[in-house]
Amino acid sequence: MSNLVSGFSKFTKEQKIEWLSEIFLKGNKDANQILRLYWNSDEKLQQLHDDFIENTISNYYMPYGIAPNFVINGKHYVVPMAIEESSVVAAASLVGKFWSDKGGFRASVLSTVKVGQVHFMYGGSKTDLESYFLSKKTDLLKSTETITENMRKRGGGILEIELRDKTDELKDYYQLHVTFETKDSMGANFINSCLEAMAQNFEKEDIQIVMSILSNYIPECLVQAEVSCEVEKLHPTNGLLFAKKMKQAVDIANVDPHRAVTHNKGVMNGIDAVVIATGNDFRAVEAGVHAYAARSGKYKSLTACDIENGVFTFSIQIPLALGTVGGLTSTHPLSKLSLEMLQNPSAKELMQIIAVAGLAQNFAALRALTTTGIQEGHMKMHLVNILNQLEASQEEKQNITKQLSGKTVSYSGVADALKTLRA
Ligand code: MEV
Repeated sequence: MSNLVSGFSKFTKEQKIEWLSEIFLKGNKDANQILRLYWNSDEKLQQLHDDFIENTISNYYMPYGIAPNFVINGKHYVVPMAIEESSVVAAASLVGKFWSDKGGFRASVLSTVKVGQVHFMYGGSKTDLESYFLSKKTDLLKSTETITENMRKRGGGILEIELRDKTDELKDYYQLHVTFETKDSMGANFINSCLEAMAQNFEKEDIQIVMSILSNYIPECLVQAEVSCEVEKLHPTNGLLFAKKMKQAVDIANVDPHRAVTHNKGVMNGIDAVVIATGNDFRAVEAGVHAYAARSGKYKSLTACDIENGVFTFSIQIPLALGTVGGLTSTHPLSKLSLEMLQNPSAKELMQIIAVAGLAQNFAALRALTTTGIQEGHMKMHLVNILNQLEASQEEKQNITKQLSGKTVSYSGVADALKTLRA
């Protein structure tokens, strides 16, 4: 029997679950109940979630935590984070507090230029193409006027259209390279609509449009953040050693891509958590940030560390395309609430907050790695997760946590301890 299905999107949610249970979850009598357990009892809210994507059958929860005590450019913040990894929020909170009495974080936006491209093929004379492009430029802008009207009122719009010759790399390949300012919106829909309108206007017999799409590589939509203090303030007994080890950790990430990827993964723990909590597109951010880390031709650290004249400085510079209006930011109640608790930031402010979250997370990871090791903090949360998995009661949890304090935690170790306790 074929397990392929047609017209699936037209099934009701119940029919979809029934089909799934009968064919791919056969034998799991709890499947239906598990899926329904995560439905929201508020029907309107559930409908909202159903409508975000196609074929919704349930909701997939992620913990939503907050990291208090962040001081950024002198302003106090509590940072919302949606993430499943156990120690991330705890680490952010600790680091927020640590820097709060050392002047806090300083952040600034360096530029906000976004990019879109119309990719096309043209086999004729380059000079003719250049003349055609120049004769068309005003027309191209005109073709987007209705789309850009509101954005222009907000001070954004199309900044420049450039013809780029890529024929050295691929036969007959050219681009319209278009730059945009999208103010407080991420601008993906806006950019794509503009590009498609331009492409239609630009196309002619000898110009074949391949595709029109924004680029998630935006090295000119840049934010930077940093912290600094005298080295003695970094550690109760040996600030200089601590500072040197932190710097060595960053230096290592700059020379070794294996380490750099893990180093930057730690940065993204902080970045993604806030990007998701604020309803932004974490895949776009991930793709753009990693490409930026490799901009020199070698994949390197996103953070930098300096010790000069007894002052330790830890900083980050990353591209971030974010929105605080439009998309999920205004439709998902939790995204809206996240932005509200951040005092309804502009996209530029959100870029600064999220860069800080990434920097803080990297500081926390390197501090743990170069001092106690990462497992100490991880073990505590790991234990909680195992105890939950084993359905331990509150009393049992307290008892086992005490027993295993400071020890390496494994599933079988905890299961044995629980068995002994229960016996
Ligand atoms: C774990 O999610 C992140 C770390 O591996 C980052 C790092 O090694 O710097 C701890």
